[in-house]
Amino acid sequence: MAKQPRNGKVTVVGAGFYGSTTALRLAEYDVFETVVLTDIVEGKPEGLALDMNQSRPIEGFETEVVGIGGGSYEGTEGSDVVVVTAGLPRKPGMSRMDLIETNAGIVRQVAENIARTSPDAVVIVVSNPLDEMTALAQLASGFPKQRVMGQAGMLDTARFTDNVAEELGVPVSSVRTLTLGSHGDTMVPVPSRCTVDGKPLSEVMAPDRVEHLVQRTRNGGAEVVALLKTGSAYYAPSAAAARMARAVMEDSGTVMPVCAWVDGEYGISGVYLGVEAEIGREGVRRVVESDLAESEVAGLREAAEAVRAKQADVADL
Ligand code: LAC
Repeated sequence: MAKQPRNGKVTVVGAGFYGSTTALRLAEYDVFETVVLTDIVEGKPEGLALDMNQSRPIEGFETEVVGIGGGSYEGTEGSDVVVVTAGLPRKPGMSRMDLIETNAGIVRQVAENIARTSPDAVVIVVSNPLDEMTALAQLASGFPKQRVMGQAGMLDTARFTDNVAEELGVPVSSVRTLTLGSHGDTMVPVPSRCTVDGKPLSEVMAPDRVEHLVQRTRNGGAEVVALLKTGSAYYAPSAAAARMARAVMEDSGTVMPVCAWVDGEYGISGVYLGVEAEIGREGVRRVVESDLAESEVAGLREAAEAVRAKQADVADL
């Protein structure tokens, strides 16, 4: 069967593990014309791109990966989607919030460069602290709010799903979960929206086990960081970011949990927060509000207030 023509250009800023894994996943989809991988380090993105391109005959994809080092944006111009992974990951014992000052400087500069070179791009931020860096990227780029979003909910939801599947010994495909709120302490795993083979989670798991898995999900990133000792997770995070970029490029309309600008949904306004949203070529088409338990809505509002103050602070960083 003839393949769909490849189109579009996606740039991944930052060639660390998160960025390079995202670039490879995007290339392997074989739907983009070009995947650009950039970094401030000279040679690293070029070398990684060459290596990825040489995997094409084996894996059977044609997307070309282009590496650009030295912090240059020459060659990224006119990207349809830009994934921002630039910034430091946390070390064991650190919270994502401990990264705010260092990463704010980096993300601000990246966002300004994107606005200059790819003024029509949809921007997907993954740098931490996620909700704050997403807000900052919007501010610094001056892009419309629906064209800037953050990746966290897909990852946190995937972790919740995997935790439930592992606990019950069932295939991950039989489990549906949802995680909203911030990508931090006020994360809101949503048990009322979780099912196993279509049955509510509350029918197949005792409340104390559900609570244990909710906590494990909230602590999901730190659990990996503690094991790795250096750096943070990237396989699941890159899978989430790459799927978001693909949904944008294919204008798929897929509803995903993402960090999006919330304007009235759940009685919350004027903040970037993890919610479900319909993703398309213009970025966030709309935030999708669904039925949640009262305690879950309360958790979401608490998350909004927690990140609102920090998001106001990043304007000055
Ligand atoms: C995590 C980082 C990437 O949750 O935020 O693993």
